[in-house]
Amino acid sequence: MRLAERSTTTALVAAAAVSAASYDTCCDRLASALGDIVTTTPFTANDWFSIQESTLVPACIVRPRSAQDVSKAVTILNSSRAPGCQFAVKGGGHTPAGGFANIQGGVTFDMGHLNATALSEKGTSVAVGAGAVWNDVYGYLDDFNLAAAGGRNGLVGVGGLLLGGGISHFSPRVGWACDGVVGYEVVLANGTLANISATSHPDLYRALKGGGNNFGVVTRYELKTFPQGNMSVNTFSYGVSQVGAVFDAFNDVAADPNFDPYVSLQAGLLYSSAAKAWSVSASAYYTKPVLHPEVYSGFEALPSISNTSSITSVASLAAENPTPPLNWLFATLTLGTSSETMLDIFKTLNGSLYDFNPAGGVTWNFAFEPLPSVMLSKSAATGGNVLGLDPEDGNGIVLLFSALWPNSSSSDSIYQKGRDTFTAIEKVAERKGELRKFEYLNYAGPHQSPLASYGAESLNFLRQVSKKYDPTGVFQHKVPGGFKLW
Ligand SMILES: Cc1cc2nc3c(=O)[nH]c(=O)nc-3n(C[C@H](O)[C@H](O)[C@H](O)COP(=O)(O)OP(=O)(O)OC[C@H]3O[C@@H](n4cnc5c(N)ncnc54)[C@H](O)[C@@H]3O)c2cc1C
Ligand SMILES: *[C@@H]1O[C@H](CO)[C@@H](O)[C@H](O)[C@H]1NC(C)=O
Ligand SMILES: *[C@@H]1O[C@H](CO)[C@@H](O)[C@H](O)[C@H]1NC(C)=O
Ligand SMILES: *[C@@H]1O[C@H](CO)[C@@H](O)[C@H](O)[C@H]1NC(C)=O
Ligand SMILES: *[C@@H]1O[C@H](CO)[C@@H](O)[C@H](O)[C@H]1NC(C)=O
Ligand SMILES: *[C@@H]1O[C@H](CO)[C@@H](O)[C@H](O)[C@H]1NC(C)=O
Ligand SMILES: *[C@@H]1O[C@H](CO)[C@@H](O)[C@H](O)[C@H]1NC(C)=O
Ligand SMILES: *[C@@H]1O[C@H](CO)[C@@H](O)[C@H](O)[C@H]1NC(C)=O
Ligand SMILES: *[C@@H]1O[C@H](CO)[C@@H](O)[C@H](O)[C@H]1NC(C)=O
Repeated sequence: MRLAERSTTTALVAAAAVSAASYDTCCDRLASALGDIVTTTPFTANDWFSIQESTLVPACIVRPRSAQDVSKAVTILNSSRAPGCQFAVKGGGHTPAGGFANIQGGVTFDMGHLNATALSEKGTSVAVGAGAVWNDVYGYLDDFNLAAAGGRNGLVGVGGLLLGGGISHFSPRVGWACDGVVGYEVVLANGTLANISATSHPDLYRALKGGGNNFGVVTRYELKTFPQGNMSVNTFSYGVSQVGAVFDAFNDVAADPNFDPYVSLQAGLLYSSAAKAWSVSASAYYTKPVLHPEVYSGFEALPSISNTSSITSVASLAAENPTPPLNWLFATLTLGTSSETMLDIFKTLNGSLYDFNPAGGVTWNFAFEPLPSVMLSKSAATGGNVLGLDPEDGNGIVLLFSALWPNSSSSDSIYQKGRDTFTAIEKVAERKGELRKFEYLNYAGPHQSPLASYGAESLNFLRQVSKKYDPTGVFQHKVPGGFKLW
């Protein structure tokens, strides 16, 4: 199948070269139709979160100023006169895996100029350009004492986070960030610009809630807003001897059948290969302006190296400055709530990583986050998503497994160590009977299969919707980056 396609492509390339000599490349064709929004001016390193993305060099970059620009560009890229033109779509550029939002020698859409925000007349929703970052959204909504569910770091893109799900500070109150999308404006495979909602193309509406970049280029999101004032930020850092007690405190919150919907919590483990030292932390946010919220008393009671409690606005909590990219590896798994399993995972991590110190060093970073049943129960009210999660499964925990390192010549050995270590902790979770099938797409590594982890029903549904709206597989073959359906 693939081989046959490739030889057809080769024939078409040859034909195009003869019949359209004035159009040497896709970039020339794009430039002649779209003018100076098509550029070879390179990205700057800070446009990307990872070195794996920032070192890829596209043949040209399309910087659309309107949804119509995107529509024209997609039409040109899929036209038979430019059969070889593969492309990538960059939102906030925060997915670390190389080639997910950038493309070597192809065409990268930089959605960054489409960053406008506009509150609806009634104030119940906000239109957000798909190239915005969460700083843009929170900064705008704070003035109205409103918020929308989105990322916790301000430089993360609206575009990618919403297509993969989206864990927000507000998720226990309002669900996955994607559950808060009331409408999408999308350029489909045939270049058509369409508004997608619960009443217009409801199948595609549901598929976009977790289906990734498989269905089109989103140009605008319409997000549900809700009243939100300042919130509470509580940070704790502990010595490694406290790790078991910290997991107990975390699990008491995460496993609570009456999960407090104002909780936004992460327990973090950091291991520096150079220092051979672990640090243990809790980032315990509370989406009400309360100092020392009672729900975190377990963390307060443990002797800490440092601890803080303060009140801040959503926008100032998210605000951050761009930093130069590093090499990053992400992977994820989902657990039932069990501090015993967390501790076994920690011991396995230490056993695997303790003596590993590649050139330039590596920092391992593990973040445990509650995945409460109450959060999953919010999806139904807005038409559901495709994540395949059931509130009946009860409270769970998502683990973001990551590594960062400066020296790219150590990458191969770190990938290998990362895979071995990840497999080892997966086995621990499985042996404990606490491993769940869900792999959160936005945390998944390129070797994982998050779309399949949603279950057969969701996966089949996604494939059907893809065949319906993109019968020739533009977003499967011409957009190779990301997790694909067929
Ligand atoms: C520092 C940091 C903090 C994070 N915090 C959170 C968090 O709080 N909660 C959470 O759930 N996740 C979080 N994540 C994970 C994050 O959700 C993903 O990395 C997400 O993909 C980032 O979106 P982006 O637009 O910045 O990424 P990009 O790398 O630009 O895009 C990611 C994927 O989405 C596709 N895409 C982007 N825009 C569009 C579009 N308009 N149309 C079609 N496809 C598009 C891209 O092609 C690519 O495949 C965080 C990641 C980092 C690095
Ligand atoms: C939106 O994009 C424009 C052009 O890239 C930029 O100048 C502006 O600062 C951005 N707006 C916000 C709110 O970030
Ligand atoms: C994309 O291009 C192919 C030929 O390269 C064509 O068969 C197909 O119809 C086009 N798809 C769309 C959605 O226009
Ligand atoms: C989508 O809806 C918005 C808001 O109602 C409107 O401005 C826009 O023109 C619509 N786009 C299309 C392609 O219908
Ligand atoms: C919290 O930090 C304060 C100093 O900021 C310290 O006095 C106190 O002992 C810490 N609490 C615990 C339980 O360690
Ligand atoms: C909210 O927090 C900000 C600081 O981030 C502060 O300037 C502002 O006064 C606070 N607002 C209220 C209502 O407390
Ligand atoms: C990690 O493993 C090393 C080597 O086996 C051991 O010396 C150390 O005590 C372990 N650390 C912790 C916190 O368990
Ligand atoms: C990276 O590691 C390699 C191999 O050990 C070494 O030769 C090189 O100097 C290192 N580069 C940097 C920038 O430290
Ligand atoms: C483009 O695709 C959409 C969705 O499949 C369809 O409704 C529309 O008619 C198509 N438009 C053209 C011009 O083929």
